Amino acid sequence: MQLTLYVLYYKQVLVTNCCRVVSRLIFGGRVRRQSSIAVVLRRFSSMNTIFFIGQLVGVSSILAALLFLLAKLVSRHRCSHVQDGYGHAVLITGCDSGFGHQLALCLDRKGFVVFAGCLSPEGAGAQSLSRQSSSNLKILKLDVTSDEDVQQAKKTVQENLPEKGLWAVVNNAGISDWAEIEWSSIEDFQHMVDINLFGCIRTSIAFLPLVRATKGRMVYMSSIFSFFNCLNMGAYSVSKRGLEAFADCLRVEMASFGVKVSIIQPGNFGQATNIVKMKTSFDIWEKLDEEQKQTFNRQYIELASEYFMSMCKTGFKNADLVIDAMLHAVTSAQPKYRYVLASATDTFFFLLFPFLPTVLTDAVFSLSSMYAKRKEMLYAK
Ligand SMILES: NC(=O)c1ccc[n+]([C@@H]2O[C@H](COP(=O)([O-])OP(=O)(O)OC[C@H]3O[C@@H](n4cnc5c(N)ncnc54)[C@H](OP(=O)(O)O)[C@@H]3O)[C@@H](O)[C@H]2O)c1
Repeated sequence: MQLTLYVLYYKQVLVTNCCRVVSRLIFGGRVRRQSSIAVVLRRFSSMNTIFFIGQLVGVSSILAALLFLLAKLVSRHRCSHVQDGYGHAVLITGCDSGFGHQLALCLDRKGFVVFAGCLSPEGAGAQSLSRQSSSNLKILKLDVTSDEDVQQAKKTVQENLPEKGLWAVVNNAGISDWAEIEWSSIEDFQHMVDINLFGCIRTSIAFLPLVRATKGRMVYMSSIFSFFNCLNMGAYSVSKRGLEAFADCLRVEMASFGVKVSIIQPGNFGQATNIVKMKTSFDIWEKLDEEQKQTFNRQYIELASEYFMSMCKTGFKNADLVIDAMLHAVTSAQPKYRYVLASATDTFFFLLFPFLPTVLTDAVFSLSSMYAKRKEMLYAK
């Protein structure tokens, strides 16, 4: 406060002197006293005391407003923080394996009522989930591409809601595949988008009213491939970029209802889950027509396949980083908008990447050895 008063005092002195200098410059020493405008300026300088008081009032009201906002923020902080899950429910899609499976067990241990959506409730993943969890965890049959499954799941959730309602929906179900765009059919793209994008949209629309009632959380499993464009990930990138557009728009709309929306962008965790689609160069070759076989020769397809599989082996071996981020998004008072999950150096690069000009981001790929080999092999065919 004392500092503010000093600042205001020196500002007053400065304003007074400026007025004097301006009046001298404009009217000169001789005519200064006769000029009515100069008189006005002098009066202006004498009015600085009033300004000073005005400024004091202004600063105090700004400080009061800031304190009020801070208090609101702290009270919100308290409201939206979920220390333990007692009385709260969470719906997670894609719990047969991987991140969804592990998150379901974590949240069950924290006392949440977990509705674990599984593609195959009779399958090994769902059964093992059932064995390892408490009676608070309920397995639901939930194929996110099916309206019927989603509506039935909503009905079951509504009928079994604990006292504090549905706190969060974690849109985790997803598939991945890899292929160059020209090796893919429209059906490949549609299948990917049906699950990764429309599956999330369908589930979100159905469950949003329940989450809005608790001012809870919507969490979306995206990927670094939503913004990192590279060889072989066309269909996957399309689905995840679309998903992020949806989540970003939803965040803006939900802000006024107090619902927070988070996007999780894991890097390479292929070894920690079942996401990597195993396929051989033969599987790809068989799908190509004669013209494609001419363009992409067999050796290149083999190289691409080996390269892709070797890249998958370089990733994280366990899912802890992702599960911690999912837990944070569900339980923290201040969930992040985005969680980029990669090694420290990769994270720095990925955070920077979306802001770089296209000419630079494209250049990153042209520098890779694989890209150079591709160019050489396809050109030399
Ligand atoms: N692992 C990574 O490196 C990585 C990186 C970035 C993003 N992600 C994203 O993380 C999410 C979870 O993947 P994950 O790595 O844990 O792989 P995952 O082990 O394969 O888990 C995905 C789950 O989704 C289920 N699923 C597939 N189609 C479905 C459908 N139509 N309806 C409902 N569930 C369906 C799968 O069931 P089945 O097991 O029966 O097929 C599986 O349980 C995905 O959205 C994925 O894109 C993963």
